[in-house]
Amino acid sequence: STMASGEPKAKKQKVSEKRRRRRRRKMSLHPNSLFGMGNPLLDISAVVDKDFLDKYSLKPNDQILAEDKHKALFEEIVKKFKVEYHAGGATQNSIKVAQWMIQEPHNVGTFFGCIGKDKFGEILKEKAEEGHIDAHYYEQDEEPTGTCAACITGDNRSLVANLAAANCYKKEKHLDLEENWELVEKAKVYYIAGFFLTVSVESILKVAKHASENNKLFCLNLSAPFISQFFKDNLMQVMPYVDVLFGNETEAATFAKEQDFETEDIEEIAKKAQALPKVNTKRQRVVVLTQGKHETVMAKSFLSELVQDKPLDQCVKAAHYSANVIIRRAGCTFPEKPDFK
Ligand SMILES: *[C@@H]1O[C@H](CO)[C@@H](O)[C@H](O)[C@H]1NC(C)=O
Ligand SMILES: *[C@@H]1O[C@H](CO)[C@@H](O)[C@H](O)[C@H]1NC(C)=O
Ligand SMILES: *[C@@H]1O[C@H](CO)[C@@H](O)[C@H](O)[C@H]1NC(C)=O
Repeated sequence: STMASGEPKAKKQKVSEKRRRRRRRKMSLHPNSLFGMGNPLLDISAVVDKDFLDKYSLKPNDQILAEDKHKALFEEIVKKFKVEYHAGGATQNSIKVAQWMIQEPHNVGTFFGCIGKDKFGEILKEKAEEGHIDAHYYEQDEEPTGTCAACITGDNRSLVANLAAANCYKKEKHLDLEENWELVEKAKVYYIAGFFLTVSVESILKVAKHASENNKLFCLNLSAPFISQFFKDNLMQVMPYVDVLFGNETEAATFAKEQDFETEDIEEIAKKAQALPKVNTKRQRVVVLTQGKHETVMAKSFLSELVQDKPLDQCVKAAHYSANVIIRRAGCTFPEKPDFK
């Protein structure tokens, strides 16, 4: 190999241990190390008024799937209010944030999901490329690309997701294809938001079993109370493969109630979730429950750092840093580079 500079040997030896460590870490990071699969959605956000929430029977702070009665909401919000568009979808956002924290190399994050052959689909593709993630969408033309209306009132936010194309993800049509499955096999860490349990549990199970059989890390996010309530069977089919379970206190409380944990204590809930049956016994399950401003309960971790095998205290610092940057901005967006060491 060629040495780029004529740096004297003595100077090179002075390269600090820290820099060497950083270099080693970078070298061990390969494209497609982190795999995510979920619902790619275009976020349409606007500050709305109470009348608008009432008209569509929305709670100020909630996330739901669009029903027939919400169909007109998507047109009305664009007509009546000043809207902003952002590439979204919970899993895709998490993969993008992890890639942003990692920076180099590009395409450490892989993302699978289903979109339509339309303008919104094109926007999602552009945004994935700008985010340097390796997105492989299953493109079909029966349903349009999914959207998520974020109806903002004060500090509250009511999300209404119209999955549309996202709901059409098919294991046989996409995940099972050899060139796609090879990307799954390349990953070391898997992350899926609970929202995808409503779409293709067989796809999640295939990925989760692969992770478990190869002692790789499989992470799941509880995502919203309705997942634990109305998609309980799907959730519990996947649970035995979950190495890292994420959730907030509201989601944890609902999960605990649905599982008859008979406790509302967040630490107890975390312990009981950790003790649920697990297939890969080489790793103990880690349960990460956030509580808004308060201490995160149990072990703490974040995707970009998990991919890099960092100790958990470093993971939580990374998570807090990125959450802090993103919470101050519209949609899931971020500055060009993180300022995190
Ligand atoms: C936000 O929602 C809560 C109920 O979830 C309500 O008590 C509060 O007044 C709302 N705030 C605004 C600014 O709408
Ligand atoms: C879990 O999902 C919530 C809601 O979508 C999100 O705010 C949070 O960042 C997710 N956690 C991780 C580790 O991605
Ligand atoms: C937790 O997430 C849910 C959505 O799943 C949200 O409605 C709730 O406000 C969040 N709770 C806290 C304490 O942040």
